This record gives sequence, C-alpha cells and structure tokens, in this order.
Amino acid sequence: MSDHEKSSNVVWHNATVTRERRETMNEHRGGLFWFTGLSGAGKSTLAHSVEESLHQQGYRTFVLDGDNVRHGLCADLSFSDDDRKENIRRVGHMSMLYVEAGIIVLTAFISPFRADRDNVRKIAGSDFHEIYCKASLETCEDRDVKGLYKRARAGEIPDFTGISSPYEEPEYADLTVDTESHLGDCRQEVFDYITKSTRNSDH
Ligand SMILES: Nc1ncnc2c1ncn2[C@@H]1O[C@H](COP(=O)(O)OP(=O)(O)O)[C@@H](O)[C@H]1O
Ligand SMILES: [Mg+2]
Repeated sequence: MSDHEKSSNVVWHNATVTRERRETMNEHRGGLFWFTGLSGAGKSTLAHSVEESLHQQGYRTFVLDGDNVRHGLCADLSFSDDDRKENIRRVGHMSMLYVEAGIIVLTAFISPFRADRDNVRKIAGSDFHEIYCKASLETCEDRDVKGLYKRARAGEIPDFTGISSPYEEPEYADLTVDTESHLGDCRQEVFDYITKSTRNSDH
C-alpha cells in the first residue's frame, strides 16, 4: 500500500464493458498524450487545436488543462513542490480512467519535474506519450499570454516556472515539437503522431 492508499477493504470491480470493447466500438485505441513545457509554450493552444482536428475526424477525445483542473479537483493545491507533485499524481490517475473508457486524453500541464512525469509514465505504462512543447523562456516571456511573467519578474508570483522555480526538460520525450514555429505545422506533427499511436490494428 502506498502513502496515498488509506482505505482498506476496497476491492476492484471489473467492468463487463471492457476497454477493448470500447476501443473496438470507437475504431481507435485510447491513450494519454502528455504535453509538457513552460507557461506560454503552447500546450493548451496545441492540445485544443489537435483535439479539434481529431474530433472532426470522429475520434473520441478529451483535454485536461492545468488551469481548469486547478479550479476544481485540485483547487486545494498550491504551487509548492509537494503540491505540484500531488497535482500531477491526481491528473495521472484521472487520465487513466479516461483511457480505460477508450478516450484519447490530451493533457496540458507545465509538469516541470521529471520525476513527476516519470511517475505518470509508471501509472500509464505504454499508454503514456510525453510530448515536449519546446519554446525558449525568452519566447514565452515575450508572448506573456496571461501577463504572468511580468508579474513573476516583479516578485508577485512565488514559485513561477522558469523564473523562480525550475523546469526540467524531458530527456526521452516521445515527441518534441518546436512551438516557436507555425502552429499549423505543430498541429500536423502531433495529429500524425496521435493517429499513428492509437490505431486499433496495433492491438
Ligand atoms: N507553434 C505554436 N504552437 C502553440 N502555440 C503557439 C505557436 N506559435 C505561437 N503560439 C502562441 O503561443 C501562445 C501559447 O499559449 P498557451 O497555449 O496558453 O501556452 P501554455 O498552455 O503552454 O501555457 C498562444 O498565444 C499561441 O497562439
Ligand atoms: Mg495552458
């Protein structure tokens, strides 16, 4: 039992509608596509844009976005190292429930710590695909989509990734996209990768 498992006498109930049956019905496999990168690197933009293309072609998808999750499920968590770790742990498990439901999950979390991303890889196994949205700190800071870099530089936001908290680049990303280039090119690259990875014939 891990630190997080405090409930005993809990027995897993197996579904008769299995993941495989759902995937056969969907005509594609589920999978977890984990976008990581600095704030402003383009995780949300890219994840939603790829989801739009997938949806238009009949794929079952869902985007889990950091900001949205932190409004509800993880509203009790701060940006301290421990709470970031717990945030990613919860999202990892939640994502796998979606994957069991046959869904292609695209997640948009900075997830700055390699160890936390590796934990999700452990939870998800071969369903996990790490997609590194690579853009320099300078570019992200220039974009400053939400005005957060300016506030972080002014010392108004503690533990801000890239400024006062580290970002650990993936060492073995399954896919690295240069999000300083055209959004359309990035979308196509990620779309191709996801459709290839979720083909039912790979069963
Ligand atoms: N190739 C690209 N991929 C993704 N976003 C891009 C790209 N080029 C420019 N952008 C812009 O960068 C910004 C990224 O913001 P956002 O998606 O909110 O980042 P994040 O979710 O990583 O914090 C958007 O304004 C987007 O239009
Ligand atoms: Mg975002």
